[in-house]
Amino acid sequence: MSKIPVLFGTVALAAGIGVGTALSQSDQPAAPAATVPAAPAPYVMTMGDMMNTLIQPRHAKLGLAGRARNWPLAQYALVELRQAFAGIVKAQPQFHGLPVGELVNAAVSQPLNAVDAAIGAQDPKQFAVAYDQLTRGCNACHAAVDHPFVVIKAPDSSAFPNQDFSPHK
Ligand code: HEC
Repeated sequence: MSKIPVLFGTVALAAGIGVGTALSQSDQPAAPAATVPAAPAPYVMTMGDMMNTLIQPRHAKLGLAGRARNWPLAQYALVELRQAFAGIVKAQPQFHGLPVGELVNAAVSQPLNAVDAAIGAQDPKQFAVAYDQLTRGCNACHAAVDHPFVVIKAPDSSAFPNQDFSPHK
């Protein structure tokens, strides 16, 4: 390691190139001094990351759109939320040995259908009831996976200052 010139060390090591070979090719142009590692490790999202970035904001947006009676936006948010769950189930089929797909099905499938029906009916009261069921489904799964302290609720207010949730006129 100590023999590797600083200039080449990072790139050659990160790329898994035989250092001796790389350095002996003196006819090659010198690598730029400041280099990013050639093959950075891809960041793998944890379940917590996916919940935090994919599920939580979409649950909130669905609630905000429904509360504003913006049915097309609520429908869109619902589809996005469903897709996010489907993607998570594929990306992480097991969490601490528990079957994520089955848990998601048990916890939120029926409430998501109820929300869908309420949006279709454009009924604010029906929406509020179904959205509450959905939120309780989130918490049921958190309890089942030993995270009862992650408590979801309907959003107090918008966390998205740059998005208008009111119906498009
Ligand atoms: C598989 C069942 C399951 C369902 C259904 C589920 N979650 Fe989660 N959620 C988890 C697990 C597991 C964790 C903990 C992940 C970890 O610690 O890596 C978690 C953690 C979270 C967190 C904490 C993430 C953080 O970094 O703060 C939030 C927020 C969250 N979930 C939101 C939701 C919302 C909103 C819903 C419903 C729309 C929902 N979850 C439905 C399994 C679920």
